[in-house]
Amino acid sequence: MRIAISTGGGDAPGLNAVIRAAVLSAVNRGWDVLGVKRGYAGLLGEDEVIPLTRESVRGIAHLGGTILRTTNRGDPFHYPARSADGAVTEIDRSGELVARAQALGIDALITIGGDGSLRIAQQLFERGLKVVGVPKTIDNDVSGTITTFGFDTAVNTALEAIDKLHTTAESHDRVLVLEVMGRHAGFIALHSGVAGTADVILIPEIPYDIDKVCEKIRARDRAGRYFSIVVAAEGAFPIGGGESSLGESLPGEERRVGGIAEKLARAIQARTGKECRSLVLGHLQRGGMPTGYDRLLATRFGGAAVRAIAAGCFGQMVALQSPHIVCIPIAEALATPKRVDPGHDVVMTARATGISFGD
Ligand code: F6P
Repeated sequence: MRIAISTGGGDAPGLNAVIRAAVLSAVNRGWDVLGVKRGYAGLLGEDEVIPLTRESVRGIAHLGGTILRTTNRGDPFHYPARSADGAVTEIDRSGELVARAQALGIDALITIGGDGSLRIAQQLFERGLKVVGVPKTIDNDVSGTITTFGFDTAVNTALEAIDKLHTTAESHDRVLVLEVMGRHAGFIALHSGVAGTADVILIPEIPYDIDKVCEKIRARDRAGRYFSIVVAAEGAFPIGGGESSLGESLPGEERRVGGIAEKLARAIQARTGKECRSLVLGHLQRGGMPTGYDRLLATRFGGAAVRAIAAGCFGQMVALQSPHIVCIPIAEALATPKRVDPGHDVVMTARATGISFGD
């Protein structure tokens, strides 16, 4: 038996723990394991395919990033290619990829990725590749699993920032606006904001009204609380408006979002006269050591992915449905994108404790 592992899309703390657990579980069954470098680039002759052994994964469980590297511009169905005149186009290289996997004697592929990578995995499965998916994203926006690894680490990174912003905001009677990741889903903003007792949380699932945001800040002033903390998901947007975008994207890359914190800081300062500052937490949320929770979940996912292959569960994704790790069809997970439910108890409790969503 020979299996391969690839990591695709944005990285998330815990990827190496998945790789380690999958490699050790497979090697201990007597299987061969290959690592596909940089998404699918290794299978397209644009990077390497390397053997993964017990030695290759020694001492990596606690490390952020991925030893296999990754890319969010490696969709084999829309692979970036430069034409003779230098223009960048997209071509379908999926047939080539499947053929190369067969030539290498790969019996099954574990693909670790977010919704974009899982969509590609599903398409490759439909083209005959035996794939097992492992859901990964700091945004926690993959359905069918209670959570994804990387999310807890990102929430803790954001929480640490909120705690630090509190002390300086209070000293200066300022409004501090923190922008966290979450292009389409506001889980990081919601969880870190509630745990960090933010005053305003803005998420894409609940469009905001800037006047309502300012109303909350003024009410705090009247109550003698002269500082406020606003946590905004990068994809949050005003009622009737659109998300903030950050300039040009590279070919094959999703539109970059961001810049909301500075926009909000300026708008709040203009309306309330209060001194405002903004901070974009950015890729700090994707880096560093995975928390214990993420390391354990990632390790469980890696082990479960190998068991799924042994059981012949292809086209499936491992998922946490507490207290168990289960397998569900990738297509089922992709059918409905996971978003914050505005009626969820975390949102209700946030509102009940005085947090404003700007609505
Ligand atoms: O998909 C995860 C994510 O963290 C998004 O929230 C964010 O918009 C994106 O990655 C940023 O990715 P990058 O800048 O690495 O392309």
